[in-house]
Amino acid sequence: MRPRFFGTRKDWQLAERFVASRREFLMAGGSLAILPLASQIAPGAVRSRITWASDPFTLGVASGEPSSSGMVLWTRLAIDPVDIGGNPKGPIEVVWELSDDPSMKTILKSGKVLSTEALGHSVHVQVHGLESNRWYWYRFHSGDASSPIGRTRTTPGSEQMVDELRFAFASCQHYESGLFTAYEHMVTEELDLILHLGDYIYEGPPGRSSLRKHNSPEIVSLDDYRNRYGLYKSDEQLQAAHAYAPWLVVWDDHEFDNNCAGLISEELWVDPREFALRRANAYQAYYENQPLGVGSMPIGADMKLYRDIAYGKLASFAMLDTRQYRSDQPNGDGAKKLDGGAMHPKSTMLGSQQEAWLFAHLQESEARWNVLGQQVMVGRVGRSSGESKLYSMDQWSGYDAPRKRLLGQLKQMEQANTVVLTGDIHSNWANELYEDFDKLDDGPVAVEFVGTSISSGGNGYAKSKQEDELFEENPFIKFHNAERGYVSCRVTEGQWQTFYRTVEYVDRPGAELQTRAEFVVEHNRPQLMR
Ligand SMILES: [Fe+2]
Repeated sequence: MRPRFFGTRKDWQLAERFVASRREFLMAGGSLAILPLASQIAPGAVRSRITWASDPFTLGVASGEPSSSGMVLWTRLAIDPVDIGGNPKGPIEVVWELSDDPSMKTILKSGKVLSTEALGHSVHVQVHGLESNRWYWYRFHSGDASSPIGRTRTTPGSEQMVDELRFAFASCQHYESGLFTAYEHMVTEELDLILHLGDYIYEGPPGRSSLRKHNSPEIVSLDDYRNRYGLYKSDEQLQAAHAYAPWLVVWDDHEFDNNCAGLISEELWVDPREFALRRANAYQAYYENQPLGVGSMPIGADMKLYRDIAYGKLASFAMLDTRQYRSDQPNGDGAKKLDGGAMHPKSTMLGSQQEAWLFAHLQESEARWNVLGQQVMVGRVGRSSGESKLYSMDQWSGYDAPRKRLLGQLKQMEQANTVVLTGDIHSNWANELYEDFDKLDDGPVAVEFVGTSISSGGNGYAKSKQEDELFEENPFIKFHNAERGYVSCRVTEGQWQTFYRTVEYVDRPGAELQTRAEFVVEHNRPQLMR
């Protein structure tokens, strides 16, 4: 990856020092490979009959990665969520139970697992051998303590076409910026699945908010990241949403550091070696705090998060990582003209491996609907007009060649049934996606639903002052709104429905839910209809 330094002699001297640091870092490659995660075998006596001084299940329960025969069940012991868990030292036994009824009278499956300090006393239980397409309930015990009961489900079998899938997707839940009221409403809908598209935590220090406060200065160490997850996951509405249905999660930038691009920091003075160590901490804490399978376990500063999850023959979810493998934001990031680095043919958003995997996945997919769960907006939205039009260098608009390759791939597909789901920008958008945004007469090749934030940005607003100009200059945008909330989708063989659910405020509890817009997409017709 090229260093991000240009211009003055001092900059180049800095660059040389950083490149040298990076070389040392690479030469010492083994040192990252033996970061704490490798140490999974817990030394010392196992605590199985522990008497807890207070509830160790303060972070709730979760499930994720559903398949037709199982899923991952998650919890993390923490009597003090913002003080590295505050648990007794050494490995602690955790018992898990799974039932087919909500009161858990009949236990279908159970087992014992060790929670260790090496993994922040988290547990990730991979359950196998269940019936497809049905609901299950689960809970954990440790010593004399029991967790709340969570609800989860398996997906339909690979050859099964089901009548419908209902799911919601969310992103961007800045703890200080607002309450997570949207989740309170989300769990009143009938949902089979919940997607989180990133910015699950924010890494910054406490701000000026008087509503809620971050627990520490900017997070860097593994314990910093663990404690930040402890703070966020203490939120009761977030916990209720996790206990309500299985989740599919992917990160954006704030799970590590704002606007990161691979191992390049947005801050020019950051040593890539330190940045890699920090990323190892961030990724480990992410794994520890999410219901992810062992295939996602990080190795040092790397963690493979992209994957696909099938929902029978009805839908296939490709969950993408647009942060870890991308080339640096071109033209110094921010909003810029579409020239220079933005048009560089070798720029990449997904990295070559992930991109090849995605294209192969799409070519082979026989799913009725192909869903891409990812972070940054694909729609090439231009701000202002004419010659002075500016585009985000952090979104796909700043990565012209990879965006054209992706949309060209979608155009070639036998069925025009791709739906892109996006987070990141704390606002709702519904976009039709074109292979070439300068040739709208050619017709759209896919649709994109960008979901607003749960809380980031504070109360927000329904209509912006520049909205009319925005629509005029970008006719492929069919809806825009910047309130808080989430997006709900109902998918059948024949059509896809999307509902933009919003709340009017997040600075106090009790906001009602409203549906600001609804769209229908018919199978094999990538157009947004009201
Ligand atoms: Fe965000």
